[in-house]
Amino acid sequence: DAPVIAVDGPSGSGKGTISRLLAQRLGWHLLDSGALYRLTALAAMRRGFEFEDATALAAVAGALDVRFAGDGERARVLLEGEDVGLAIRAEDCGAAASRVAALGPVRDALLQRQRDFRRRPGLVADGRDMGTVVFPDAALKIFLTASQEERASRRLKQLKDQGVSANLPSLLRDLAERDARDARRAVSPLRPADDAIEIDSSGLDIPAVLDRILALARE
Ligand code: CDP
Repeated sequence: DAPVIAVDGPSGSGKGTISRLLAQRLGWHLLDSGALYRLTALAAMRRGFEFEDATALAAVAGALDVRFAGDGERARVLLEGEDVGLAIRAEDCGAAASRVAALGPVRDALLQRQRDFRRRPGLVADGRDMGTVVFPDAALKIFLTASQEERASRRLKQLKDQGVSANLPSLLRDLAERDARDARRAVSPLRPADDAIEIDSSGLDIPAVLDRILALARE
């Protein structure tokens, strides 16, 4: 099987950016597993489904017509042929994704789809349960964290760069809520795998985190 590097961690830990750059540097494929949960949430909202209906949502997840086209900055996400890259990044879709992700049947429905991303020469898998559930045999497992304050201010900067207005107190509140929901849920709660290496990125810039992971990958 092709090698996997699992990069797990909470919202705003920088794992999205780090995973993308890591995949680029290694010339490996990238799995943005959060996008699959966001796509499931978006498809469900568009169909007017209730977030409590696990069976209906699992069917939506299983039948997702999604294509990831291109790589890196220019990567596009197509849902039923429509570019939904911006729609799935919105905060409301992130919040909906975290509710959908708490449903076991939805997680089961997305499992094989995630494993199908594993191809030569290798895969960088970004998520919450890459090292614990989806790729327990990953060659390297990173658990990336940062303080809540740091994660909220990174998110604020990201949103401002996108021209979206936001404020720190409400972002902090949302983040704390999302962390609690991700950690408390009964299925695949957010936690480091036993053999994961934890990196606290508070006060570290992106190149520093990237170098540390690349050094671990070479070992
Ligand atoms: O930017 P953020 O990390 O919040 O978003 P994301 O990685 O796109 O994930 C969105 C939501 O999907 C998270 O809040 C998680 O609840 C959920 N998720 C998950 O449960 N398992 C994954 N492997 C990836 C995401």
